[in-house]
Amino acid sequence: MPAGARFEGRVAVVTGAAGGIGGGIVARLAAEGAHIVATDRADGLKQAVAEAAGDTAQEWVAVAADLSSGEGADEVVNTAIDRFGRLDVLVNNAGGGIIKPFLDHTPESMRETVDRNLWTTVHCCRAALPHMLAAGYGRIVNVGADSVRNGLYDHAMYNAAKGGVHGLTTGLAREFAPSGITVNTVAPTGTDTPTVLSRPPEAVERYRKTAALVPIGRFATVGEVASAVAYLAAEEAGFITGQVVSVNGGTAML
Ligand SMILES: NC(=O)c1ccc[n+]([C@@H]2O[C@H](COP(=O)([O-])OP(=O)(O)OC[C@H]3O[C@@H](n4cnc5c(N)ncnc54)[C@H](O)[C@@H]3O)[C@@H](O)[C@H]2O)c1
Repeated sequence: MPAGARFEGRVAVVTGAAGGIGGGIVARLAAEGAHIVATDRADGLKQAVAEAAGDTAQEWVAVAADLSSGEGADEVVNTAIDRFGRLDVLVNNAGGGIIKPFLDHTPESMRETVDRNLWTTVHCCRAALPHMLAAGYGRIVNVGADSVRNGLYDHAMYNAAKGGVHGLTTGLAREFAPSGITVNTVAPTGTDTPTVLSRPPEAVERYRKTAALVPIGRFATVGEVASAVAYLAAEEAGFITGQVVSVNGGTAML
């Protein structure tokens, strides 16, 4: 554990932990001392978490759950309380886009987009907040998307779901500010994850070309996104709440 570990004694729930950014967040929080409750509905969750947190001395537990239902979110939060007796940090990272022109969506793909990105976040906040309230302390960090601000092509439905996450952030932040709980969102631009990079070659080429729109000239690394999440999840960020922090290489400014 590095000196000055910011999460020593803290317990963090990280959703979407089998994914690229989720793995990076688990690795970062565990390296800084957090015990982790990692969750995802994807196969390979345990292996992903073992790889991400394995080198640290921290305890972790993996819970397979579909968080688009209240039951799934309750199970994850109850695991944190039963196993560790507390829940300090909730990172709502589960999500992912079904990226296509608006009129190509079906009712199912629209519903799935909202389920993955917005309902997972809503249900986990609802399950976690009573415990944070009782403790008088909490850090909620959502993973939104910078495409909400720049209106990226083919992202209308995804942006509708992520825009809901951004909106939930400000509302919850105000409601729970007097209770020691902060709520913020990290909004990444394109981020080089295995999921993104394993798309068909023409899609990866398009993704690479879009990087030219980023003033810094490339997309984000997983570590850069995880670093912003860790800062907002730490005790030291206690005077920052209700913010959407873009990690976007300057793609949209202000
Ligand atoms: N990679 C990017 O370019 C990028 C850009 C902006 C925002 N984001 C956001 O960052 C977050 C992480 O994305 P990633 O790139 O690591 O994607 P990813 O697909 O690798 O990981 C997302 C994970 O969320 C899980 N998930 C989705 N719906 C779920 C549900 N109902 N219940 C439980 N788990 C569920 C998936 O199984 C998956 O493992 C997502 O919210 C995504 O929308 C990613």
